[in-house]
Amino acid sequence: MKTLVLVAHPNLSNSVVNKTWMERLQKEEEMTVHNLYAEYPEGRIDMEREQQLLLEHDRIVFQFPFYWYSSPSLLKEWQDVVLSYGWAYGAEGTYLRGKEFMLAISTGGPETAYQAGGFNQYSMSELTKPFQATANLTGMRFLPTFKTQGVRFLEKEQIQESAENLVHHLKANY
Ligand SMILES: Cc1cc2nc3c(=O)[nH]c(=O)nc-3n(C[C@H](O)[C@H](O)[C@H](O)COP(=O)(O)O)c2cc1C
Repeated sequence: MKTLVLVAHPNLSNSVVNKTWMERLQKEEEMTVHNLYAEYPEGRIDMEREQQLLLEHDRIVFQFPFYWYSSPSLLKEWQDVVLSYGWAYGAEGTYLRGKEFMLAISTGGPETAYQAGGFNQYSMSELTKPFQATANLTGMRFLPTFKTQGVRFLEKEQIQESAENLVHHLKANY
């Protein structure tokens, strides 16, 4: 099982959680960690290069901090460019079929905020539906999302622990 982790954080030098996760995942042999903002500082995504990377892996992971109830913008640009008609979807767009797809998300808000009646009203499962629909359209199996929430209140050890939990989550069979 080869796993591709697309990391999308616009300011990793100020990151606590995503940076810790990324550095931990870089130690795993079966994982390719692909830091999108570092690869594309000008924001011009290389469609063919990204499609080739996808072909070489079985499990695709989007790792990002939750920004405005979604991903940072470069990951959206990546989707717009890379998941093209005739490649990722459409009658002949079958290249992602049968792959697995997963999200790894950190949120500022705590878990309790993400429910009906909570501060943000909607669950993470509801808010990540566009990703699930994308997996569905491209024929990828959407696996359970890895989440670390309320990150401002976490101690350093808890963040390290979340990185270990992420490794287990990414390696698990579903
Ligand atoms: C532009 C921006 C938008 C954000 N939007 C949300 C949000 O919608 N929901 C939320 O829970 N946290 C939000 N946050 C907080 C981030 O999710 C949080 O700081 C991040 O997950 C921490 O990860 P890091 O240490 O890797 O930066 C936002 C932060 C920024 C800078």
